[in-house]
Formats: sequence, structure tokens, C-alpha cells
Amino acid sequence: MENILEIKHLKKSFGDKIIHRDVSFGIQKGEIVGLLGNSGTGKSVMLRCLVGLETMDDGEVWFQRKRIDLLTEEAMFKIRTKISYAFQSGALFDSMSVYDNIAYPLREHEHLSISEEEKRVQDILTLVHLKDSGNLFPSDLSGGMQKRAGLARAMVLSPDVILYDEPTAGLDPVNVENVLGIMRSFRERGAAGIFVTHDIPAAQKVCDRLMVIDSGRIAFQGTVQEFDNSNDPVVQKFHVSL
Ligand SMILES: Nc1ncnc2c1ncn2[C@@H]1O[C@H](COP(=O)(O)OP(=O)(O)OP(=O)(O)O)[C@@H](O)[C@H]1O
Ligand SMILES: [Mg+2]
Repeated sequence: MENILEIKHLKKSFGDKIIHRDVSFGIQKGEIVGLLGNSGTGKSVMLRCLVGLETMDDGEVWFQRKRIDLLTEEAMFKIRTKISYAFQSGALFDSMSVYDNIAYPLREHEHLSISEEEKRVQDILTLVHLKDSGNLFPSDLSGGMQKRAGLARAMVLSPDVILYDEPTAGLDPVNVENVLGIMRSFRERGAAGIFVTHDIPAAQKVCDRLMVIDSGRIAFQGTVQEFDNSNDPVVQKFHVSL
């Protein structure tokens, strides 16, 4: 199957600090690929490069057979409705209700009647188990609820790809399972994903494939089983004893 989203030969430095030497990989329609790597290996920077929030020193990004890294900011604004970045922090607007936070991308990109908007927002709120929380403000929410509201906002425009930047970080086990369930339901609705995480068991549960980034390169790509069986020292650092 062909890749829906692909990055080719990404190179990126900040000053004399080399982050990415040569990063290439692709993801296919409807799959969730886990991206593991130590803190500071450039996972978040790479996600930002994919959606043009960060410039690359060299490399290409391809989405649905089109090269997108050379597009104008206006064109990228549209692409970001199709490749949605679920920010590490959730990034909700504190001054807006949960409902308005989730309606925000709809109002920016689609012109819906009030009843259509309500239907879309309620549908997504229900999917993330927040159907009765639309009137609350971010400060009223628990950490788990904030993460779910952030995911709802990332999904409301029905993107083809969601970039999940540590969506389970800081959550208790029940809330982690909730988030993994939400990622599965987004996949069932056709959203492929890149799942950046330090939570190896979570990645193993939800991902179709896993990758490890190390020293500026993708050091491993394979199925969860191949990951488990790998003798590569770079991979073994991430093996967890259960
Ligand atoms: N705008 C910037 N200017 C300078 N250095 C930056 C900038 N953004 C990121 N970096 C550096 O690039 C490196 C990679 O950062 P990045 O946030 O991508 O790491 P990460 O793999 O996501 O780590 P974590 O797992 O802790 O989230 C870090 O050393 C970071 O300090
Ligand atoms: Mg990060």
C-alpha cells in the first residue's frame, strides 16, 4: 500500500546542534505508527516539520502524493485540516468553553449552520466521553479531560492523519486506557496517526508498527512483534520487563 504521509531525508539543526541527520519514513492510510526516542531526539520538532510549523534544513514532505513542504502558508493552513497536530500540552484556549474550543476549527475552516455545528461538536464530544462537558472551561477539567478535549479538537475536521504528541503523558492508567480507546475510534473513522510517546506498553497496545529515532536517524521500524524480538541495542533500551 502506498504512503499517505511521508518525510524524506529530513535534516535539521539548531545552531551547531544537529537534531536530524537523515530521517525518512512513511505512514499508510488508517494505521497508527508509534515513534519512540529519548527526550531531545527531535520527535516534536519532526512533527512540527511535517505540518510546516518548523522549517527543515533539507528534506521533503509528501502528503497524498503531493509535495507539501514548499507550499505557501495559506495552502499549509488548509493542509493542517487534513494533518492535525494534537499538541503535547493540549493547547486549549482558557478563555473559551470546551464547546467553543472544539467549534473553533470548524468556524475557521467550514461554514456550518448552528445546528450543523452543534451536531459535529456533540458527535466528537461523545466520542471522547465529554458529551456533558461542553459548557465547562478548560480550568474546570481534570488533566485527563483536558487531553480528551484536545483530541476532540484535533479530530473535529475529520483529518486523514493525526500527529499525537505524548497524548497519554502524565495520565493515570485508567485515563491512559481512555485515550488509547479514543485513538482506536479515530482510526476506525479513518484517521491514521503518528503516536509519539515514552509509554512503551501503550504504544505496543495501540500501534500497527513502531519506529525508534536515535542519533538523528530512524534506527528501527517494524511490527510490535519485531520490536519485541529485536536484538538491536538501540531497540533493547526500550524493552520493558512486564
Ligand atoms: N526553536 C528551537 N530552538 C533551539 N532549539 C530547539 C528548538 N526547538 C527544539 N529545540 C531543541 O531540539 C531538540 C529536540 O527537541 P524536541 O522537542 O523535538 O525533542 P523531543 O524528542 O520531542 O523530546 P521530548 O521527548 O522530551 O518531548 C532539543 O534539544 C531541543 O532543545
Ligand atoms: Mg516532544
